Amino acid sequence: RFAYVNGRYVRHADAAVHIEDRGFVFADAVYEVCQVQAGFIVDLTRHLDRLDRSLAEIRIRPPMPRAALTAILREVLRRNRVVNGMVYLQVTRGTARRDHVFPAPDVRPSLIVTAKSLDPAVNAAKYAAGIKGVTVPDNRWGRVDIKTVGLLPNVLARQQAKEMGAQEAIFVDAEGNVTEGGATNLWIVDKAGTLVTRPAGHDILKGITRTTLMDVAAKLGLAVEERRFSVAEMLEAREVFVTGATTICLPVVSIDGHTIANGHPGMTAQKIREAFFAVAE
Ligand code: PDD
Repeated sequence: RFAYVNGRYVRHADAAVHIEDRGFVFADAVYEVCQVQAGFIVDLTRHLDRLDRSLAEIRIRPPMPRAALTAILREVLRRNRVVNGMVYLQVTRGTARRDHVFPAPDVRPSLIVTAKSLDPAVNAAKYAAGIKGVTVPDNRWGRVDIKTVGLLPNVLARQQAKEMGAQEAIFVDAEGNVTEGGATNLWIVDKAGTLVTRPAGHDILKGITRTTLMDVAAKLGLAVEERRFSVAEMLEAREVFVTGATTICLPVVSIDGHTIANGHPGMTAQKIREAFFAVAE
């Protein structure tokens, strides 16, 4: 396997950043994860738009023009022979002596890119069976719309989910409303048959899959509503599913030990998944 690190393609086992890289020291960095499907990077433009936004929000300058970055993503995929899988990129504020304030302007941002193949059979098994979720208090900072690598609350939440026999943590705010999953956006199909997800603000990551799913829903003639919903409404929903770049649209069939609907993946999630790649670019 190979990775791109600051201008070079290196063997994955030898790929390293400096111990004073600010991504390592302060989580002063942003990232993107894109799905690779049949050799294409799914929704690449939207991912790069979001990257630009994340960078601008924390005032890291883009490490290079978009065309050059795209060429690197493709080259890392090529060198790793990834046809179906994912590509990961991370931009940090660069390497400098430890100091909270930004380093001098001549310190260049770091860019790393990795890629890996994913076995479609693994996702297929999850689609068929659905996954389990557990709710956890959303104790993250107030700007989770920025895709930073500061993911400690997500790490702890997902570990807790795993230890409780579940595959995703579901964050719940102080009002008892669902925000999103540990690494996914969360949707319900409500009693009226409407697809519902939390409005995008500073308190969720505006997922690329979430955005594209709205396009898919429009094509399928499904009603979508962005509104807040409670844990109680989620537990009584017709369907619950989570969306993210690596899984697209994954049914949740049990939450906190409570069975959702009849305990089987719903038709809406399946229809959306089947239509997804015809709409994604
Ligand atoms: N996670 N919400 C959170 C907190 C996420 O970390 C992610 C993505 C999403 C879904 O966003 P998108 O549809 O753009 O993937 C929502 C990535 C995949 C990860 O951290 O691995």
